[in-house]
Amino acid sequence: MTRDVPRAMGLSLRRGTNAGPGAGPVDREPGDGPAPVLRTVGLSRVYGEEESVVWAVDGLDLDVPAGQTLAVTGPSGCGKSTLLQLLGGLDRPTDGEVWLGGRRIDHLSERALARLRRRAVGFVFQAYHLMHELTAAQNVELPALLAGASPRTARVRAAELLDQVGLSDRARHLPSELSGGQRQRVAIARALVNKPLVVLADEPTGNLDSAATHDILRLFDELHAGGQTLVMVTHDERVAATADRIVSLRDGTVADDTPLDSGRGGGSGDSGGGTGLGALLHWED
Ligand SMILES: Nc1ncnc2c1ncn2[C@@H]1O[C@H](COP(=O)(O)OP(=O)(O)O)[C@@H](O)[C@H]1O
Ligand SMILES: [Mg+2]
Repeated sequence: MTRDVPRAMGLSLRRGTNAGPGAGPVDREPGDGPAPVLRTVGLSRVYGEEESVVWAVDGLDLDVPAGQTLAVTGPSGCGKSTLLQLLGGLDRPTDGEVWLGGRRIDHLSERALARLRRRAVGFVFQAYHLMHELTAAQNVELPALLAGASPRTARVRAAELLDQVGLSDRARHLPSELSGGQRQRVAIARALVNKPLVVLADEPTGNLDSAATHDILRLFDELHAGGQTLVMVTHDERVAATADRIVSLRDGTVADDTPLDSGRGGGSGDSGGGTGLGALLHWED
């Protein structure tokens, strides 16, 4: 999952500046409300060099408040996946800052970053990335065990989550025995097992038919009702329309940032009631 990328240049220059948002260059105005769960400041990620240089993310500023469902859209190659990987500490910026839960993360040590990814971020990928040789339940338990939970706690938590995603009866199945939609539901359960601050989903419905897409979006709606912060990359306008807000990227930067009245409202608990999801449930393919 982690791309083999060189350590970004210039990080050492910013070491030791681990003050919370509210200090230094990202100071917020008083009365601005709580610090966002995610924040980027002047975020850039450059691949290659000289004539083959690509600014995958280019000076991007973004705040994601707690409880928001944010859809990130844009044409292929505009930097969506790169942004998500930077937000979740799977990759490091060439320049700029990433803040998660009020803490600056882009200059953490590899070890601290790995720990943060395990505990604070839930990743969901288009291709599921389940462990083929493990059952659904074991796939969900694994990140809990890696984060230090007892086998019993991990088992109980995995059973609860598989129930939540409607797969209690598939707990002992291998991924190869599950449909795409079921695999993605297992992947979502796995993403949630350590109660992450944020769920980052990269084209989570990209491989799914419309019935399975509905199942995933219904699940996301339940997460939203529970206050989960969620960033999902999608190029499906109908999926994006279920979010609270759509950020469109072009050439690695924000081209458009639109709050959706029809979205589900920031953490309001308006489960399924918003016209965003309501409209979606009436799709006809
Ligand atoms: N590991 C890499 N090495 C070189 N270039 C890359 C790498 N990953 C992505 N890119 C380039 O960065 C740009 C953004 O890619 P990506 O974030 O995957 O876009 P999206 O997810 O929006 O399709 C593209 O031009 C892509 O070719
Ligand atoms: Mg992508």
